[in-house]
Amino acid sequence: MAIPKTKNIKIADVNLDGRFILAPLAGYTDYAFRSIARKCGASLAVTELVSVAALSRNIKKCYNYMKRADIESPVSLQLFGSNADEFKIAIENHIDKIMGNDGEIAFSFIDINMGCPTRKVIRSGSGAKLLTDIDKMISIVQSVKSASPLPFSVKIRLGFSRVEGGEIERLKALIEQKPSFITIHGRYATDMYRGSADWEAIARLKQEAGDFIIVGNGDIKSKESAIEAFNISNVDAIMVGRAAVGNPWLFRELNSIFDSDDNSDYSIAKHEVIEIIKEHIHEASLNYTEIKGMHFMRKFILKYLSHIPNISREDKLKFVKVETEKEILDLLDLL
Ligand SMILES: Cc1cc2nc3c(=O)[nH]c(=O)nc-3n(C[C@H](O)[C@H](O)[C@H](O)COP(=O)(O)O)c2cc1C
Repeated sequence: MAIPKTKNIKIADVNLDGRFILAPLAGYTDYAFRSIARKCGASLAVTELVSVAALSRNIKKCYNYMKRADIESPVSLQLFGSNADEFKIAIENHIDKIMGNDGEIAFSFIDINMGCPTRKVIRSGSGAKLLTDIDKMISIVQSVKSASPLPFSVKIRLGFSRVEGGEIERLKALIEQKPSFITIHGRYATDMYRGSADWEAIARLKQEAGDFIIVGNGDIKSKESAIEAFNISNVDAIMVGRAAVGNPWLFRELNSIFDSDDNSDYSIAKHEVIEIIKEHIHEASLNYTEIKGMHFMRKFILKYLSHIPNISREDKLKFVKVETEKEILDLLDLL
């Protein structure tokens, strides 16, 4: 097994200029972070999970998750829920947003979340809970197909819990519905995020899937781990989540596995870090209002700053206490 022969991949009618996709991360992957990741080399990005229960009731709070930036196409909309009818109504009620008739770019895919392990989502019968009920999984997929003209994909874990089995049966049942691709996070829902992602298990499923496009996911943090994952599993593309937070340049490093003679140094210049922080805080301020935006940025900022050597812990902590964009800009000027 090996890494794919070409850097590019065409999925449905969508040309992706790379094999590394930004994973959906609730509370992180808004349009600003997705755009930054795309500029740094992610070939596709996915919104955080959006509730069809809320969308089918036209709850406007969710619309923020569906905001897109012009530069981020292609982008995928992830939906979650437990009721097939709600998927249909949610899509029908928001077809203008989905198709880009609201003045923003169109989504390229609808991704169905069948992997979220959080208690609240599982209790509602959504996310990874669906992996325990193939009939329900399929009725949701069919509902999405009937309502949306877009290609769709599904994001799953290996299963709900490892005692249940049925991994191959579930995968085959999904593939019969002809999604454009399936993303497999190599953990069970009951693992939450414990242990390591099982790329051997992803490999077994990819083998069953044959030519069908499988995107592997879990614990990719570096070029070396990506090469190993491709070699073990033979997947067509890789989705990267946590390691990209505060480190969108990771996609640049990952894409270099397709460069023929690669002796590059992947250290990030200080001015690049500063430019990205400025862009990110500015968009956060526009998107959430200034104070809320600066609070939102706290989870990114220390990670960004870890790419600039020789900043004292004391100076770093000043960044997470600020309330205004100007205060961050002033602190950046001192670096
Ligand atoms: C904070 C956080 C939020 C997440 N939100 C979502 C989500 O909205 N939808 C989803 O399918 N997966 C979500 N995930 C799972 C990730 O997409 C991904 O499958 C997981 O983090 C493993 O990949 P990684 O090791 O590259 O981070 C989330 C994970 C984390 C840590």
